[in-house]
Amino acid sequence: MTAQGAPAPSRDIPPYLAAGDLVYRTPPDARFVRGEGVRLYDTNGRPYLDAEAANGTLSWGYDASLLTEACRRALPMPALPSFCESELRLRVVQRLADRLSAAVGVPGRVALELGGAQGIEMAMRIVAANRGGGPVLVFQGAYHGRSPFTAHLSASARYRSNQPWPGPQVVRLPYPDCRSCPHRPAAGGCNPACAAGLERLGTDDCFGLPTADAPQGTAAFLLEPMLNVGGCVVPDPAHVRRLTDHVRSLGGLIVVDEIFTGLHRLGPEWGFQLHGIQPDIVVASKALTNGALAFSCVWAREPLASPEVFPPGSHSSTFAGSPLGLAVVDTVLDRWDAWHDVEASVGRLRDTLAKGLSRIAESSELVRAVDVLGGVARVTLSGPYATRLRALAAERPDRPGLLLASTGMAPATVVLHPPLVTSTEDAEEMTELLGRAVDDLEREL
Ligand SMILES: Cc1ncc(COP(=O)(O)O)c(C=O)c1O
Repeated sequence: MTAQGAPAPSRDIPPYLAAGDLVYRTPPDARFVRGEGVRLYDTNGRPYLDAEAANGTLSWGYDASLLTEACRRALPMPALPSFCESELRLRVVQRLADRLSAAVGVPGRVALELGGAQGIEMAMRIVAANRGGGPVLVFQGAYHGRSPFTAHLSASARYRSNQPWPGPQVVRLPYPDCRSCPHRPAAGGCNPACAAGLERLGTDDCFGLPTADAPQGTAAFLLEPMLNVGGCVVPDPAHVRRLTDHVRSLGGLIVVDEIFTGLHRLGPEWGFQLHGIQPDIVVASKALTNGALAFSCVWAREPLASPEVFPPGSHSSTFAGSPLGLAVVDTVLDRWDAWHDVEASVGRLRDTLAKGLSRIAESSELVRAVDVLGGVARVTLSGPYATRLRALAAERPDRPGLLLASTGMAPATVVLHPPLVTSTEDAEEMTELLGRAVDDLEREL
C-alpha cells in the first residue's frame, strides 16, 4: 500500500510512463491484445473472463461489429467544426432526451460532454446557473470523478491530496451501507429515525447546511443510485426518498449520477427508478458507448438547461460533438432499442451470479456476504483481501484468468459487473473461477 492507502502498482513502471493516471493497473501483469464476447486475450493467447467489463462500460461485451457499424455511419463526415450543427448530433441528443424525459416523466434537455467527471462538472454548472454556488450534499463513499472539481465531491481524501485548489462546499451524509451502520434495525434497511434526524439539515445550525434565512441556500443533493467505487452499496430507497424530499423543501436540486448505473446495469433502465425518486438532473455515460469512446450526457428538466439560464457558450468542449463518438452512441442506442427483454435477461444474469456466489459463501469463512442487484454482484470478504483475491483470480496459470473489480475505498469487497449479455454458461464459469481463487486465498492465509 502507498502512504495514502492506495494499492501500489505491482510491476515496474517504464521510464516513459507517467504513473498518476494509472488506476490500480494491477493485477494482472499481462498485456492484452484482443477482446471477444466476455473474454480478453493477452499476448500469449491466454483467455481472461472479464467480470469487470472495462470499468462497467461494456454492457454488450467486446463486439467489433458495433464499432464497424459506427465507423460506417461516421465515414461521410468524420469531423465537424463545433459551431456547426449536424443531423447526427440532433438525432442522438433527441434520442437521449426522449429516453430520459420518458423515464423521469417530465420534458427536459440534453447536453453532451466527454466522460463521467466532465458530465458531473457540467451538471454542477447547470445547478449553479439555477441555484447559485451553495453547498452540495453527497453521501460518504460517493464517487463522482477525480478531476480537480469532482475530486471534492468524491469521498476519498486521496483524490484531493495533490490538488490545492478550492472546490465546492460539500456536506457528506452518513455512508448508506446498512451492513456497516451502527443504527441498523434488526429488520434490515435504514432506521427511519436516521432520515428523520437528517431532516434537521438546513434548520439546525450544527448540521452544516445554511439555514432558511442564509443568503445562499442548499444547491443540490448529488447521489449515485448505487455507490460504485464506494463498494457497490445500495442506499435504502425509503431513506433516499425522504432525503430527496427534504432537500427539495430546502430549494436544492436532485442530481443523479447514473454514470455507472444507467442503461440497465441494476436491472431497470435507470438506477433512480429503483428508489422511486424524480431527479432534476441526470448524468449518464459508461454504457452509452459500450466502452469505445469518452462520452457523457447531462439531462436537465425544463427549464434548467434552457437558453435563458444556460446560454450557448456556457460550457463547451472540442470533441464532445465528434461524429465518431455520436455514431457510436447512435449505434449503441439502436441495440438498446432492439433488446426487448433486457430486464428479464439481466434478471437471469443476476440469478446465475447469485446462485454461484451463494455456494462460495456457504463453503468459505472468508466470504462474509454476497449481494446481487441486476448485473452487479458484490462479495464482502472478512478482511481487506480484495487486491490479493483479484491477483489470484487473474494470474493462476493453470486455469483461465478472471478479471474482477475492487477499489481503494472498499478493500474488503470484490465486485463482478460483467457484460450484461454474459451467457448463463459464462456467468457460471466466472463464479466457478472465483470460488477457486477464494480457495487459494484461504490456503494462503
Ligand atoms: C458513479 C460514477 N461517477 C463518476 C465517475 C467518473 O467517470 P470518469 O472516470 O469517466 O471520469 C465514475 C467512474 O467510475 C462513476 O462510477
